[in-house]
Amino acid sequence: MRKSISAIAMTAAAIAVPAMAFAYPTQPITIVVPFSAGGPTDTVTRLVAQSMSAELGQNIVVENVGGAGGTLGAARVAQARNDGYTLLLHHIGMSTAPSLYPNLPFDPTTDFEYVGLVTEVPMVIAARPSLEHETLADVIAWVQAEGEGVLYANAGMGAASHLCGLLFMEAIGTQMTVIPYQGTGPAITDLMGGQVDLLCDQTTNTTNQIRDGSIKAYAVTVPDRLDSLPDLPPPRLDSLPDLPTPAEAGLPDFSVSIWHGLYAPSGTSPEIVARLTEALQIALADENVIARFADLGTAPSPASDATPEALQAKVVSEIALWGPVIEAAGEFAN
Ligand code: MLT
Repeated sequence: MRKSISAIAMTAAAIAVPAMAFAYPTQPITIVVPFSAGGPTDTVTRLVAQSMSAELGQNIVVENVGGAGGTLGAARVAQARNDGYTLLLHHIGMSTAPSLYPNLPFDPTTDFEYVGLVTEVPMVIAARPSLEHETLADVIAWVQAEGEGVLYANAGMGAASHLCGLLFMEAIGTQMTVIPYQGTGPAITDLMGGQVDLLCDQTTNTTNQIRDGSIKAYAVTVPDRLDSLPDLPPPRLDSLPDLPTPAEAGLPDFSVSIWHGLYAPSGTSPEIVARLTEALQIALADENVIARFADLGTAPSPASDATPEALQAKVVSEIALWGPVIEAAGEFAN
């Protein structure tokens, strides 16, 4: 009799353990943003984190770990505990870093679990408000005349603003002087102040400044003009759709947009990753997130892309895409 009671107790315990073990999350989660606070990646992360936090029932803290074009923050998460409480939201830099950094302290194809794609953000070629030129063609002629006399801001080697600047300089055959920052949050402040001349940055960090005239914009970096926003409250004049495409502005083969993904350290359990993917998809379908993203010139990734498989495929294909471009430009970090 005693034996059978303990057998029943053990069976009950055995059944109970898996359910208990997966009670995730039971404490706040940290998402590392590998760039400064207030920049485009930070903005996207905070919007998504707020909605994911509501779904997961735990606070999500955003920690900014800037430097080395995003590789410092990514390395931090690659080495973090794989318990689901330290995550990374990073962009195309995840795929340009292997070609740029010979001694990269992590491997984007093996050191992370993929949660899902988040958004793909167009960029804008922008300038300080005092720049007298009216068209991109005028700006190109000016840069070709001034060369290294022109100060181009970016967020470090491997950043989106670095990649766009590299493509732009390749396209016009002229090198500018590059001024690196830990993110385009501080870079755009200096652009507004006239300390630097040009910046190519994501719409999530430039839309409001373009609308209020605190920076000048010359073109978007994607093949189609940006949508207009039907019901913007006055007096915000929606000028984004007026921005020409690269082809319209005289750079027919120029195109770059910035995809973003959510990652966990490798070895994070499949159950936790699945729960995070579910919460991410719910956040990307959240009307408030959709409206805020639209206001910033972008849109959430569809649920079919907010998956581990889609993000993994993107990371791998983009490493193959940008490697030869970076090599041809002879651009490497020391
Ligand atoms: C940022 O968040 O500062 C940007 O993503 C920087 C960049 O990659 O240009």
